[in-house]
This record gives sequence, structure tokens and C-alpha cells, in this order.
Amino acid sequence: MKKPYLIAIDGPAGSGKGTVAKLLSKKLNLNYLDSGAIYRLIALSAMEKKVDLDDEKDLVYLIRQVNINFIDGQSFLNNVDVSQKIRHEVVGVNASIIAKHLKLRKEILTFQRKFFQGNGLVAEGRDMTTVVFPNADLKIYLDASVKERAKRRYKQLITKGKDVSIHSLTEDITARDRLDRERIHSPLSIASDAFVLNSDGLSIDQTVYKILKLITK
Ligand code: C5P
Repeated sequence: MKKPYLIAIDGPAGSGKGTVAKLLSKKLNLNYLDSGAIYRLIALSAMEKKVDLDDEKDLVYLIRQVNINFIDGQSFLNNVDVSQKIRHEVVGVNASIIAKHLKLRKEILTFQRKFFQGNGLVAEGRDMTTVVFPNADLKIYLDASVKERAKRRYKQLITKGKDVSIHSLTEDITARDRLDRERIHSPLSIASDAFVLNSDGLSIDQTVYKILKLITK
């Protein structure tokens, strides 16, 4: 594997790209970027400061004021650990809403690219393969059916003691897919040079193994 090495992974919500990317980064000793967490942190900050999620100008102003940090896998907003808070469903939905603004996306481009240093990086999100790292050494589009993604999310939430239904989760996932795929700027799409992997019926380890095989090819 050449060094530095850059792996970019995109895919819809719940496709398993977060867990897979984290494991890959550990195995290969590369940095890890969860770009979705950046959008979630900005969304959380906007919610706390009551900024209108449709107001691009105010959101850009907000980004310039906030301090975003990732330390040991935890997410910090103005030096406060909000790792749990940003995982709430409503923050995810609001992250999708603010993610449509081009100026906001441009504002965080350099910040994201700085993660590519040292041995390299595994970056995951919606536009890693298409916009942020178009020259990545390996591009993966990790997919999974809506049914499978809703089932995985259901299992996660039930183990956490949450009262949810598969039906409402399916609706949430479908709505978020639509927002992410149909927006004008940096929509979720498959890069022409990306390998498409469908993780339906595959365990995390099997998915990681498939990607490792692509690297050694
Ligand atoms: O990946 P995650 O579900 O945490 O991302 C939350 C939202 O942030 C996504 O639904 C998407 O709208 C937005 N996002 C994005 N571009 C990225 C990563 C996330 O627009 N690279």
C-alpha cells in the first residue's frame, strides 16, 4: 500500500460505513474522518443558538464562531463533549437540512481535507468520493437496502432501551435518503470510479475484508 493512502467511502444513512471506516482506519493505522459528525455538530450548534436552518448566511457566520474538535473518537463543540447528543435522530435530520447550503459546505472543505496527513486517511460521508477527495486512492460506495438499514437501526435502538418501530425508522431513512440524494449541491451519488459494495447480508468484518482485498489488488 502506498503512503500516504486515502480511502474515501460514501453511502446512505445506516449503510454501515461509519463502523467499517473506523475499523479500516485502525487496521491500516490511518486517520479517520466522520464528515457526518461535522454536519451534526453544526446542526446542534444552530439548534442551541436558535439559528434558522434555512438561513445560509447566519449558518456560515455560526461556523466561523464555533470550535469543532475530534479527540479520541469523541466529538467536541466549543470544548464540550457532545458525542451522544449529536447522535439523536433530530440532529441527523437537521444536519441533512443544513447540508444543502453550498456556502456552508465550502466553508468546511479545508477543515475536512486537513485530516489527510501522516500515513493517510479513511474518510466517510456523502461527498468524500465526489467533492472532498476526488483523487482518493480507493473509492467505495457502500450501499444497503432500506429494509436492511432500518432493521440494523432498530436493533441498535432496542438494545439502548428505546421504544421505536421498524415502520417509523423505514420512513425516517427514506426521507433522509431523499434529502441527501435530491439536493442540488454535493448530492449523494456514486462516483464513476467508485467500487459499489452492497452490505445486505454481510457482517461488518466481511465488508471490511472485501475492502482490504480491493486495496491489495
Ligand atoms: O453520516 P451522518 O448520517 O452522520 O450524516 C448526517 C447528515 O449530514 C447526512 O444525512 C447528510 O445530509 C449530511 N452529510 C453531508 N455530507 C457529508 C456527510 C454528511 O451532506 N459528507
